[in-house]
Amino acid sequence: MLAGGPQADDAVVVQVRPGVCLVQTVDFFTPVVDDPYSYGRIAAANSLSDVYAMGGQPVTAMNICCFPTRSVGGEVLSEILRGGLDTVLEAGALLAGGHTVEDAEPKYGLAVTGLIEADQICTKAGYKPGQKLVLSKPIGTGILTTAQKREALDADSLALAIDWMQKLNRATSELMLAAGVRGATDITGYGLLGHGWECAKGSSARLVIEAERVPVMGRALEYLEQGHYPGGSRANRAWLEGAEALRFAEEVPELLRDLLADAQTSGGLLMGWPAEVEVPDDCWVIGHVEEGPPQVSVV
Ligand code: CO
Ligand code: CO
Repeated sequence: MLAGGPQADDAVVVQVRPGVCLVQTVDFFTPVVDDPYSYGRIAAANSLSDVYAMGGQPVTAMNICCFPTRSVGGEVLSEILRGGLDTVLEAGALLAGGHTVEDAEPKYGLAVTGLIEADQICTKAGYKPGQKLVLSKPIGTGILTTAQKREALDADSLALAIDWMQKLNRATSELMLAAGVRGATDITGYGLLGHGWECAKGSSARLVIEAERVPVMGRALEYLEQGHYPGGSRANRAWLEGAEALRFAEEVPELLRDLLADAQTSGGLLMGWPAEVEVPDDCWVIGHVEEGPPQVSVV
C-alpha cells in the first residue's frame, strides 16, 4: 500500500505492477440541492474528486444509491442517476452498474476505481516548505446551500454554487501533475482549514493562508453575515481552535474566520505548488508552505 493506509489520505493507492497503481475511493451523501439531476452531478463530481486529488485518472465508477422509490417514485431517481452518468462520462470513465436500496432519505454517490503512475502520487504528506499554496475553487458552498435550505438564497447564487459543485477537478489534476505537484487534497466537509490542517500534519509543515486572497463564492459573505452558517462549519472551527491546530492573526476579521472553516461539498483542490512553476490562470495562490511544527496559520 502506497498511500491512504495508516496515514489517512483521500483514497487508497496500491501498486498492481511496477510503475502502475490502483486508486480506490467511495463517497455518498444526502441531497445538497433540490434539483435531482444537479444533485446527481454534484455527488458524482464529489466522489471522483478524491481520485483527482491523489493524481489519478478514474477508470470505472459504480452507483451507490439509497432511495424512497415507494413514496417519491422512479422519475426523480432516474434524474439523479442520469446526472451521475453524465459526470462519469465527462470524467472519461465507465459507469459499471451499481446498487440501490430502499431508504427513507435519498443518498447517492460513487465507488470509483482509477489508475495512477507510481511516481505521480499526490498525498497530504507531499507539501514542502517554500511552495505556494494553490486552490482551484472558491469557497462558500456550505453557506450558500444552507441559505437555500432555508429558502433565503437568490436564484443566481444557487446557479453559481451548483456550477462550482458539479465542476470536475479533472483539468486541475492534469495541470498539477504537469507542474510536478506531489502534495494535494480536495476541500470537502472539514473545510479549507480542516483539510489544510490534515496536510500540515501529514507534511510536518506550517501552512500559511492569507485570508484576503482566498476566493469567495459569489455572495457567500453576505449570506454568512445574515446568519446562514452550517452546524458542520461551526464544528470545524471549534475543533481546530480547540486543538491549537490553527492560529489566526489578530487582524483577521471574524467573518473571514467563519468562511475559511465552512464545510464544502465537491470543493477544489488545495495543492503545494513548486515556487518556480507558473500557476494556471483559473487557480488562486492563497498562501505558502513554511518550515515549522504542523499548523495552519491564517494571516
Ligand atoms: Co478528499
Ligand atoms: Co471523501
